[in-house]
Amino acid sequence: MRVLVTGGAGFIGSHFVRRLLAAGEEVVVLDKLTYSGNRANVPDAVELVHGDIAEPADVERAAKGCEAIVNFAAETHVDRSILSAEDFGRTEFRGTQVLLEHVRETRQRLVQVSTDEVYGDLEAGGSSKETDALNPSSPYSAAKAAGELLIPAYVRTFGVDARITRGSNTYGPNQYPEKFIPLFVTNAFDGEPLPLYGDGRQVRDWLYVDDHCAGIETVLRSGVAGQVYNVGGDNERENIDVAEKLLVLTGADRSLLRRVDDRPGHDRRYSLDTAKLRGLGWQPRTTFEEGLRATVEWYSENRAWWEPIKSGEYREYYERQYGARLAGSTAV
Ligand code: NAD
Ligand code: DAU
Repeated sequence: MRVLVTGGAGFIGSHFVRRLLAAGEEVVVLDKLTYSGNRANVPDAVELVHGDIAEPADVERAAKGCEAIVNFAAETHVDRSILSAEDFGRTEFRGTQVLLEHVRETRQRLVQVSTDEVYGDLEAGGSSKETDALNPSSPYSAAKAAGELLIPAYVRTFGVDARITRGSNTYGPNQYPEKFIPLFVTNAFDGEPLPLYGDGRQVRDWLYVDDHCAGIETVLRSGVAGQVYNVGGDNERENIDVAEKLLVLTGADRSLLRRVDDRPGHDRRYSLDTAKLRGLGWQPRTTFEEGLRATVEWYSENRAWWEPIKSGEYREYYERQYGARLAGSTAV
């Protein structure tokens, strides 16, 4: 099979590319190389088309000869969507529409990589099922939901072969250090503060990147057109507990952990019911202990990957996001 992986220079997309290569598939990557896209994440053997999923000509050029498209391309950070949401609407909605218009003509298979955040948060108890209503609460998750809603519409109206995955919080090597786990790990290595939002009791369901990619591959190969599949780690943790584990694994001093002002509209808890995907033979295989250890080890051994990222544009973003928060921070 020849597969186009859009957003394949990012975190999860690049792991998915390596997974397909290992399975003997041919892969092409289409990536806009935004701040989180990184050429170094794409294996040399893979053709990388530098382009935008919201540009029909770029999609047509990259998708030639492919049987399937797996769409990872997105603006992905909730905090950035709160600072400025414009690019989120363009890539998540317009980009998905361009991909759908493309497969409407070519009849290629499309897998849309979405997120558990489209369900909105759950207080305590219960898990989101694929049939639950969407109730997104950040500009990021609303843009993801908007893009995703086009999929069933094109399936029903034009009979395209498109499927949706909704993954939970993913972690592992190569994740851009704006996200919680790589931010805390790299800051801990640099002796910088670890900014914990609000009371730190928000719950996320952590999923190792290889397990997320295995779930997406299962949907690509064995899923049913028009269907949605949750991909979760069955591994719900409070942020404060994850932070404590990272302090131990990095050997950082506890005084680095700082309580800062909360994220506006911060979702309290996500939880996924994964019975449907398990029914196709998938299950997460990496324990949180193994996955976190491997992740911390990778960041320890790959400073050359993340140190250059944490300068330039990143520093400007960091100052905007954390400058005032850290100035007013308190001990945890
Ligand atoms: P990432 O930010 O590391 O990668 C996103 C990639 O998309 C980058 O390479 C970027 O350059 C590319 N991109 C952005 N806009 C583009 C455009 N218009 N055209 C082409 N390429 C573009 O993100 P990630 O964490 O790897 O997330 C990948 C996908 O998985 C996203 O769709 C995200 O919503 C979804 N997801 C992420 C998580 C998570 O915890 N990270 C969980 C569930 C779902
Ligand atoms: O649930 C899937 C989603 O997970 C994906 O769709 C998103 O692309 C991905 O970014 C992620 O969203 P979150 O907002 O849950 O992830 P983030 O890593 O930004 O934050 C995880 C938790 O940690 C969240 O409750 C906020 C908290 N946090 C985060 C940062 C960056 C902090 O306490 N301090 C921080 O500095």
